Amino acid sequence: MKGISAIILAAGQGKRMKSALPKVAHSVLGKPAVWHVAQAARSAGIREMVFVLGYGRDKVLPTVEAFGGKVAIQETQFGTGDAARCGLAELSAGAKEVVVLCGDAPLIRPGTIRGLLAARRRKGAVASVLTGMLDNPTGYGRIVRNADGTVAKIVEEKDADPATRKIREVNSGTYAFDRVFLERALPRLSDVNAQREYYLTDLVLEALAEGKCVAPVVAGDPDEVRGINSRRELAEATRIVLNRKLDALMDSGVTLIDPDRTYIETEVTIGQDSVIEPGVSLLGKTRVGRCARIQTGCVVEDCIVGDGAHLKPYSVMTSSRVRNDAIIGPFSHLRPEADIGVGAHIGNFVEVKKSRIGRGSKANHLSYLGDAIVGKKVNVGAGTITCNYDGIAKYQTVLGDGVFEGSDTMLVAPVTVGKGALIGAGSTITQNVPPYALAISRAEQKVSEFWVARKKPELLKKAGLAVPVVKKGDK
Ligand code: UD1
Ligand code: CA
Repeated sequence: MKGISAIILAAGQGKRMKSALPKVAHSVLGKPAVWHVAQAARSAGIREMVFVLGYGRDKVLPTVEAFGGKVAIQETQFGTGDAARCGLAELSAGAKEVVVLCGDAPLIRPGTIRGLLAARRRKGAVASVLTGMLDNPTGYGRIVRNADGTVAKIVEEKDADPATRKIREVNSGTYAFDRVFLERALPRLSDVNAQREYYLTDLVLEALAEGKCVAPVVAGDPDEVRGINSRRELAEATRIVLNRKLDALMDSGVTLIDPDRTYIETEVTIGQDSVIEPGVSLLGKTRVGRCARIQTGCVVEDCIVGDGAHLKPYSVMTSSRVRNDAIIGPFSHLRPEADIGVGAHIGNFVEVKKSRIGRGSKANHLSYLGDAIVGKKVNVGAGTITCNYDGIAKYQTVLGDGVFEGSDTMLVAPVTVGKGALIGAGSTITQNVPPYALAISRAEQKVSEFWVARKKPELLKKAGLAVPVVKKGDK
């Protein structure tokens, strides 16, 4: 929308959070609170955004960059009116209407912002303000209305008398302004109030003094006006954003067996007909394809999971790729840069790091594969370890297509096993193996007959076995 800009107030510390992190940088479903605010503004069609930063500004900058926003610095937090004044100074000349949003109110929706803009124009008001009817309005500014329904004043909790405190209609801290009005009225604010701050809310009085009006818009969903001021409110807001996310997924054709026990972060996508079982966490930028199944206890962060893939219980994976129809787990660990091929199996207690596992290959039990390139249809025996680290550097292991590896193989990297080769169980492979060869390295087995009967008969007695009589001549 041309000519409409946003100022996002995000300079405060948020003392009630009891945190070193600025309040607006606290994560709500995997993204900072202020990110959600900017996302709503962007979805409402607003291009230009000015972020007013102060306390802990470095922690907020990534969000500013993500939206290509501008920064206005408010060195000392003299109040929301002063913060808006700082933001206004950075707005481009083309901005005719200004939406002011609170960085600590992440539940606002794009349609509500558009409604706020429309209401101001429709009513010919210099400003419109988003309000909400709350059962418990404690802590919020109260909306006092004129007889004609326009706003008479907004009174902060700390400045309110008992009668005003009974008002349930609260200020969300989200407004649409005529830019010219904002520019001429902001410098007139004073800080004569309980908090000795410049209140943006006092602009209502400035409008009335000019004979202009402020139009209230009551949010259809009272949750939208909620701000985060404490850790409890952070948890409540997260729950609301999570429920919205889960509803959207179900509406798009994803089965969530038990939504109340499912945690899926903001940017995660899931294809149709995938099934997510209880107790799953899908985090970061994870993308799940269609018809995938993710079972209880899986924690998946920044991964790509292909169509038809099956993540069995309690598998943990980060920054990895699981291709179509692959089967992972139970109890697998994929560390960054694991790439599991189409139809491959990674099983119980297998750890994979920075390795490519080819199509249809299997590593089903108790293995560590690090810095490895595994071809197609390879059998990685139980207990295989890539010895990839000599204490200083990491080395690569290559297993060609169709290699069959017995159990308990140590692959001392750098080492290459050619295609179709066979490795005997219990081998320690230190040299390259040519294609189609058998490689085996085991100490020769020695047997001393009747040794236990002669030297440790108490072991047999303990086990309830009769001790055989050892004739002379038996070795
Ligand atoms: C403000 C409103 C209140 C409203 C509530 C909604 C005022 C005076 N009060 O109160 O009517 O019900 O929001 O959540 O506006 N900020 C700055 N610089 C400052 C002060 C604040 O950038 O100097 C930012 C904060 O980082 C925060 C937002 O403005 O993102 C709101 O500030 P906060 O102190 O939480 O205001 P409230 O007391 O909640
Ligand atoms: Ca607040």
